[in-house]
Parts: sequence; C-alpha cells; structure tokens
Amino acid sequence: MFDSKSRYGAITRLLHRSMAVLILWQFLKLGDRIADGEHWVGRTLVPWHISIGALLLVLVVLRMLWALGQRHRRPPHQGPGAPLVKGGHFLLYAGMLLMPLSGLLLMLGKGYGLKVFGVQLVARSGLETGWLAALGSLHAPLAWLLLALILGHVGAALFHHLVKDDDTLRRMAG
Ligand code: HEM
Ligand code: HEM
Repeated sequence: MFDSKSRYGAITRLLHRSMAVLILWQFLKLGDRIADGEHWVGRTLVPWHISIGALLLVLVVLRMLWALGQRHRRPPHQGPGAPLVKGGHFLLYAGMLLMPLSGLLLMLGKGYGLKVFGVQLVARSGLETGWLAALGSLHAPLAWLLLALILGHVGAALFHHLVKDDDTLRRMAG
C-alpha cells in the first residue's frame, strides 16, 4: 500500500493511473476546435469536462497530501539528472492544480455558474467579473504547457524503459 525505496505503492499507483486517464480525457476538450465539437467525442465525452475537472481538483489535493506523507519512502532520484526529474514532477503537480483552478475562475468570472455531476453548486449570474475572467483565460495556454510537460514525461518514461532498459517505468507501472 505504501511507497518503498524500490517501488511506488498501490495508492500512489492508483492515483497516478486514474488521474492520467481523467487528465487525458480532459484534453479531449481540444476536440471542440474540430467542427465546433459536433462529433461523437464532442457530444459524449467532452460535456463531462467541468465535472471531471472538479473531481480532478479533489484528487490532486489528496495526491499532494499523500505525496507529502510518502516523501521519505519514495524511490530516490540520484545522479546529475535528479533536479530535472524533481523539477519536472513539481511542474506536473503545479499543472494538475492550476488547470482546475483556472477552469473554475473562468466559469465564475464569466458568470456561467458551476454545475458538478448534476448538482448546481453556484447559480448562473450572467455577470462577468473582469479580473476573475482574466485569470481564467490562462486556462487554455496552461493546458498547452501541461500537454507539453506530459509528452516530455511520457517520453522520458519510455526512454528509460526502451533505451536505458532500467526499472523506472516498472516501479510506477509494472
Ligand atoms: C485537470 C483539469 C483540466 C484540464 C486538463 C483541462 C483542459 C482543457 C483544455 C485542453 C481545454 C481546451 C483549450 C483550447 O481549446 O485551447 C479546456 C477548455 C475549457 N475548460 Fe478545461 N480543463 C480542466 C479543468 C476544467 C475545469 C475544472 C473547468 C470548469 C470548472 C474547466 C472549464 C473549461 C472551459 C469553460 C473551457 C472552454 C474555454 C476555452 O476554450 O478557453 N476546465 N480545458
Ligand atoms: C501513460 C502515461 C504516463 C506514464 C507512462 C507515466 C510514467 C511515470 C513513471 C514511470 C513515473 C516514475 C518516475 C520516477 O520515479 O522517476 C511517474 C511518476 C510521476 N508521474 Fe507519470 N506517467 C504518465 C502520465 C502522467 C500524467 C498524465 C501525469 C500528470 C499530469 C503524471 C504525473 C506524474 C508525477 C507527478 C510523478 C511523480 C510521482 C508522484 O508524485 O505521483 N504522469 N510517471
């Protein structure tokens, strides 16, 4: 269940795997750019964007608390590349936190209200709040930055597995 020096434990793996799936789902929102979202993906999966985003906000907070508790148990990162790996993981956390937060600011700033899994948490006001909407407009550029980070992260994991042939991928996914 807990992490160890040689591998990540069940809870870390479950959080990593489920959030990876949900985050990739969130990126389907980019599909709105194709035919104004009028396609199967746009009609079935993308409408869940706000609910899944809110769920991801809860999950990332739990994951950060869990990571804090496990920080002395986790597999160590050694060698000259260690600061890069730690910095990269830090930025992935920052992205996972800022995406739902900026999404919320966008919805509230535009006065759209907030409905999560069918529950109206904030009523639609129709009133725009300039500074909230301005912060919220970072949502789309941040999404592109996070996408680039994720591609680098997955590329690094595959590089370790296929080229360096070490245990990096196995200790998280194996
Ligand atoms: C980890 C969580 C999230 C990810 C990865 C994510 C990702 C994205 C992406 C890739 C887009 C398309 C941007 C573009 O077309 O350039 C988008 C748009 C949007 N997202 Fe999110 N999102 C997340 C959470 C949320 C949340 C929680 C909300 C609202 C509460 C939200 C509201 C929106 C809205 C309203 C748009 C359309 C506005 C626009 O295109 O600028 N998102 N999101
Ligand atoms: C198929 C996609 C993915 C693969 C193959 C993958 C692979 C891995 C591997 C092998 C590690 C362990 C690295 C090490 O110990 O040095 C790891 C850790 C990590 N991954 Fe991924 N990953 C994927 C998707 C993602 C996504 C989408 C995110 C978040 C946006 C993410 C965030 C992290 C973080 C923050 C860590 C550090 C451990 C933790 O705090 O949970 N990963 N990943």
